Amino acid sequence: MNAPGGPLVEVIADEDWAAVVTSAADGLLDDGRPQRWCLATGATPRPLYRQWAERLDLSAVEVVLLDEWIGLDADDPGRCAAMLHHDLVEPMPEQRRPTVTAIDVDAPLDPQWPGPLDLAVVGLGANGHVGMNEPGTAPDSPTRRVDLAETTAAGALRYGARRRPTGGVTVGLGPLQQARRVWVIVTGDHKAGIVERALNGPETTDVPASLLRSHPAVTWWLDHSAAGRL
Ligand code: F6R
Repeated sequence: MNAPGGPLVEVIADEDWAAVVTSAADGLLDDGRPQRWCLATGATPRPLYRQWAERLDLSAVEVVLLDEWIGLDADDPGRCAAMLHHDLVEPMPEQRRPTVTAIDVDAPLDPQWPGPLDLAVVGLGANGHVGMNEPGTAPDSPTRRVDLAETTAAGALRYGARRRPTGGVTVGLGPLQQARRVWVIVTGDHKAGIVERALNGPETTDVPASLLRSHPAVTWWLDHSAAGRL
């Protein structure tokens, strides 16, 4: 389902989605060479990371977080770092665990953080956001502190956060565009409309995910439900 020169779009049966994407991730690990992967958290990657925890050896991988909330306590279970640990790291046997670099939201930020990436795995927000790069974000945006859209801040509460975040820190679209590979993972029919806009609409800052179409090695991993309007 890919236009010539456009992004690769893989559409997978809903029940096979996590297993297929896991096999693709496994394929990147073949030679055991050190790699740096930037990972989203949230609802979409949960079933995926469950399978990674069962099947993958990530001991050569440094995982860096794609984003983090501002304004949550250090022990809040809704923090992105807490979700990554809960969904991916803790279920893994110790010898297969990645090293994880969290985001210190209080420290000065390097606009190019996290530097070279072998893989960036990003989800798709209902408003088209990527990481916490909300509509209106420039294509070359740096890693930075951001204000959150109303729906994004509310999302933290759905993830179990004890309070509403006051902002966020996100890897910018600029550093994501520099990643060797980008995977956009989307599941569920509630995302079908925004998937259609991101892939078939104009490349526009109104839908930040549409700006990733120009990445030279981007794959959209969709389940049938999310691809329902393509
Ligand atoms: C989370 C992140 C967000 C989510 C997006 C989709 O680290 O970067 O951009 O990927 O909001 O969230 P879910 O997967 O919960 O629908």
